[in-house]
Amino acid sequence: MPRLTVDGRPVDVPPGATLLDAAEALGISLPALCREKGKEPLGSCMACLVKDVSAGRLVPACACPARDGLAVETGGEAAQARRDAVEFLLSEHAGDCEAPCRRACPAGLDAPQLIRRVREGDFAGALAAVREEIALPASIARACSAPCEKACRRARHDAAVSVRLLHRIAGEAGLAAGIAPPARKPASGKRTAVVGAGPAGLAAAYFLLLEGHACSILDDREEPGGGLRHGVPEEVLPRAVLDAEIGAIRALGAEFRMKTRLGRDLRLDDLLRTFDAAVLAVGETGPTAAAALGLAHSDRGLSVDAASGMTPIPGVFAAGAAVRPGRLAARSAGEGKAVAASVNLFLREGRPAVPARRFDSRLGPLLDGEMGECLGEADPGPRCEPAGGPAAGYTESEARREAGRCLLCDCRKKEDCRLRRIAEETGAHARRAEGAERRRFQRDLSHPELVYEPGKCVLCGICVRTAREAGEPLGLAFTGRGFRTRVSVPFDEPLSKGLEISATACARACPTGALAMR
Ligand code: SF4
Ligand code: SF4
Ligand code: SF4
Ligand code: FES
Repeated sequence: MPRLTVDGRPVDVPPGATLLDAAEALGISLPALCREKGKEPLGSCMACLVKDVSAGRLVPACACPARDGLAVETGGEAAQARRDAVEFLLSEHAGDCEAPCRRACPAGLDAPQLIRRVREGDFAGALAAVREEIALPASIARACSAPCEKACRRARHDAAVSVRLLHRIAGEAGLAAGIAPPARKPASGKRTAVVGAGPAGLAAAYFLLLEGHACSILDDREEPGGGLRHGVPEEVLPRAVLDAEIGAIRALGAEFRMKTRLGRDLRLDDLLRTFDAAVLAVGETGPTAAAALGLAHSDRGLSVDAASGMTPIPGVFAAGAAVRPGRLAARSAGEGKAVAASVNLFLREGRPAVPARRFDSRLGPLLDGEMGECLGEADPGPRCEPAGGPAAGYTESEARREAGRCLLCDCRKKEDCRLRRIAEETGAHARRAEGAERRRFQRDLSHPELVYEPGKCVLCGICVRTAREAGEPLGLAFTGRGFRTRVSVPFDEPLSKGLEISATACARACPTGALAMR
């Protein structure tokens, strides 16, 4: 059995093992994009580089046998080389992990996911997609000024997709059908207090409840809703809609203590005696109010750690306009959700922690001809205006028609893309050299089950091998040279000819969003 050291730690591995296996045996995980367990290494991505100390050189761990007596290092120079390798792949990458509309949404609503469900007529699924990010689906849609639509890629072609009305119908269809929020996690035994029942406070409470924490919401007004109740006209946001959505948070287990004012009816230390954590979502807070709470004030609001939202008092967090003045309800909703994630980590791990940020590859402005590629699966028709006028919103069939206009700009593999994950693990950034041309975005829809986006291909070769192993008559091959190399079907045949039997296997094996099921 070969014995070697990885980062100075000895390890015995079975004959035939690679350096990657040896590292993994020690619990050291290396990014590996082109490796398929149990198969011959392809050695194409160079994301797994380690240093062979005796030879003094960098080698791909997946393709190097673990020889007796070897000393291998994974840190320092090797870690930098892996990051460089991933950055090289990203510099050639032409794709968006997240859609432009989602990046522009202050609440982070995943519009293309919602829209896919609407296209299928699955309004319950659409609501579930909204509730991933937003506690008050219909109320926030109605109160929102729709920054997503300003960023919508379809607007560069004719008119933006009506994301706001699609978001709204998902919320309202859910209310009409009485669809409850998702089930809460098992009770954590932790008690939280949220001060302020506006959009930030209600969002924080909702996500804390879902995490299994008990939650009491305190507010000095008679009724919850904050700016949504007192700052948005009834014709824009009917109170019945707001009340029903707040009712759903109550049904989840929130305890509302109205007509209770922090600083008048109870003090911050009283709260901390009863609760394990508190979120101050009290709206705009000036220096005097901050001092009365015993908290510091920055130039805009309560002073908090920018990443976690925690004030200098452990367990006391702040969110929404209390930290940064602003009137957009969707922004408050997003900040309420974010602070709930921090509070949850604080309660579970006993220290303020910052939820991980996801890597997001960006296509940037479209090049000439790329809009045509994006429009491939979209309804070419004009924006659908609700027959009953904008106040009435969409009927289900209007919503489905409008949803058909969406270009589905996000990546189909965004939840399980290995390139995205290793970009996060290595801390790689997507950098393109100054003035360098990027690969073109292409979307090949010539296969009935597949979508092929060659701009996202890392040329790993996995699909070529998968198709060959499946016994495809034509299969796939590398064509072209250098910058122009790509994977395609030989003899310029369409994808449907190349992948007659192994389309699903190839889409599953592709480590990026280059090959994905429709
Ligand atoms: S292939 Fe991966 S990195 Fe590229 S856009 Fe899709 S999810 Fe993002
Ligand atoms: S076309 Fe669809 S996915 Fe793309 S930005 Fe507009 S709404 Fe979002
Ligand atoms: S399309 Fe093929 S070569 Fe390109 S990343 Fe996917 S599996 Fe690898
Ligand atoms: S995983 Fe080792 S070179 Fe790709």
